[in-house]
Amino acid sequence: MAICLSKKNRIFGLHTNNTSYVFGVDGLGLIRHIYWGEKINDLDEFSLPVLCEVSTNDSVYEITPEEFPVYGGLRYKEHCLKVNFSDGTRELIYKYIGYEIKEEELIINLADTHYSFQINLHYKLYEEEDLIERWVSLKNSSEDIIEVEKIHSAQFHIPYENLNFSNVHGHWGAEQQRFTQRVSYGKMLVENRRGISTHNHNPYFILDKDATETNGEVFFGALRLSGNFSGVVEQTQYGETLVQMGINSHDFMLKLKPKKEFTAPSIISGYTNKGFEAMSHNLHNFAKKNLLRPGLRPVLYNSWEATEFKVNCEEQIRLAKIAKKIGAELFVVDDGWFGERNSIDKGLGDWYVDKDKFPKGLKPLIDEVKAMGMMFGIWVEPEMVNPLSQLYKDHVDWIYHFDTRETDTSRGQYVLNVTKPEVKEFIYNMLDSLLSTYDIDYIKWDANRPIAQSGTDKAIWYKHIEVIYDIVKELKKKHPKVLFEACASGGGRIDYGILGIFDDFWTSDNTDAYDRLKIQDSYSYIYPIKAMRAWVTDCPNFLSRRNIPIKFRYHSAMMGSLGIGCNILKFSKEDIKLSKELIEEYKKIRPIIQEGDFYRISSNSENNYHCFQYVKQEEAVLFVFLPQSKLGHRGIRVRLRGLQKDKVYSFNYNGQQLKMTGNYLMKYGIDLRLVGDYDSAIIHFSVL
Ligand code: GLA
Repeated sequence: MAICLSKKNRIFGLHTNNTSYVFGVDGLGLIRHIYWGEKINDLDEFSLPVLCEVSTNDSVYEITPEEFPVYGGLRYKEHCLKVNFSDGTRELIYKYIGYEIKEEELIINLADTHYSFQINLHYKLYEEEDLIERWVSLKNSSEDIIEVEKIHSAQFHIPYENLNFSNVHGHWGAEQQRFTQRVSYGKMLVENRRGISTHNHNPYFILDKDATETNGEVFFGALRLSGNFSGVVEQTQYGETLVQMGINSHDFMLKLKPKKEFTAPSIISGYTNKGFEAMSHNLHNFAKKNLLRPGLRPVLYNSWEATEFKVNCEEQIRLAKIAKKIGAELFVVDDGWFGERNSIDKGLGDWYVDKDKFPKGLKPLIDEVKAMGMMFGIWVEPEMVNPLSQLYKDHVDWIYHFDTRETDTSRGQYVLNVTKPEVKEFIYNMLDSLLSTYDIDYIKWDANRPIAQSGTDKAIWYKHIEVIYDIVKELKKKHPKVLFEACASGGGRIDYGILGIFDDFWTSDNTDAYDRLKIQDSYSYIYPIKAMRAWVTDCPNFLSRRNIPIKFRYHSAMMGSLGIGCNILKFSKEDIKLSKELIEEYKKIRPIIQEGDFYRISSNSENNYHCFQYVKQEEAVLFVFLPQSKLGHRGIRVRLRGLQKDKVYSFNYNGQQLKMTGNYLMKYGIDLRLVGDYDSAIIHFSVL
């Protein structure tokens, strides 16, 4: 049984295949954390000793490792929940009411001792993946409004000091830059206050006890929220490290009306003693099983870098013909097809097809694309409006604003207040009509600026994204075949909140194939490969001004869901030939890449090799990149992982067909040698 209860001791045990999570109700009625780690089956060995005040400054509340600390009493530690009752009381006193078990979910019911206010702690188990999804729901059963000033979804207790914390930092064009730092005393905070984007930090935590890729203890959690989140890590004075995550309480206030409930976003959390690789596999498998739409992602062509706003029907048809010729399966028209959208400051909000660019509408283009057997996709940015648009003229009050302040533009645009029912309806209807009028298979949904002048309702920082989730869920009900890509100025919306509602992430506007190696590597720690859109684009790259050979650019983009963003009208015969060959090769290995297990292989060389491997059943693929050879030239030995040791694998390297056992490939490895700058190779292994 995955959810166990020792009634005698009021101790709950949550068991996955390899882990246990244990907590109990102590003598004071506090929900006290006991254990999170390797599996311990027998709950009877656990106990809840009585805790005594250490000093007047270290009260029992302070030293109790509570599952869900609230604000109230002699608690000065970081709390997960703070509410204001209508009479001005600002403290919570909870008592344990009982529990419910619903299939794989345990719910602990708590209630305030005076006010009609319930707090429910939810724990849902994913046994195979060694994961627990945790969240909290609130219920106001009183006759008055209860103000929620802070709500973090869960707290985790890790019984160590001096852990390593990892996350990513970044900005536009440089998302997903993994960093690791030592946790010491004091608090560390990762957060987003922008409403839209998460270019900077990402809503997850990884805390490890000096783990490596394949060994060591890792505690981790990913918050299912796009937009304003915060995560606090604190090494306490009592020998443990706390971490909690949830909606950012910065400028936040939720007014919970009488008889209403509120469910906070969940955290997918896990423990492993097998290093970062096991963490990634568990999260990826969770996403593959529970969130991602089945089926392989198509190879797409997107015209943005080729044409920017200068799209027109004839040229798009010409691009589509070449896209088809090289092997693309989905043709996406990016920005510029609607309203008076000739630059960033015009057109957003006016979602009619520009007659100058598409005199007969989109149909002639879509017909051509479909006649060639490709899918068709289109770019939209529905949450935004340019001041220079008809929509804004007609509805000046539809944007977030303060009446007495001028509203800031960013990228020449305002953010629509999607929490107004009429705005939500407008966006839904606009997209529904686009999808009903045209045969569209793919929507690239962009959001290119953060929210400012957010209006008088402090809950919009959270409500905004809920509305976006709702709109897409509704659209998918009516248009189930349509795939949605989440883009926010590149990789600003990569998180587990949007995944599952949307199907793909646009990983970064930075399409430089070398920069992408780092971005993709960092991304892979938490997020599944199938959702990682990666394009081959022209050189010199618009951002880095770097020139990289086309083969390396393809290989880098083939590590995820492949896209092509080049101006293929300018392709030479050789470029076309090579593109065809590489896209064909991608299609052969695509199931292994998109659906297999991903391995970050470290390089033992002085040379700057980057190695990544994928395994699916009896097949494996190894990607090797050498951006720059240095200090004379040496090859490397790469030891593969995840193979079947007794099987013989056949593979081609440097024109030679070779056979080796899984055992040999994993223990000795293979000797590889790339030459010069920006050399790369893909090796495909299959069991004989
Ligand atoms: C954002 C996206 C790009 C592109 C442009 C269009 O920057 O990240 O991929 O769609 O908008 O304006």
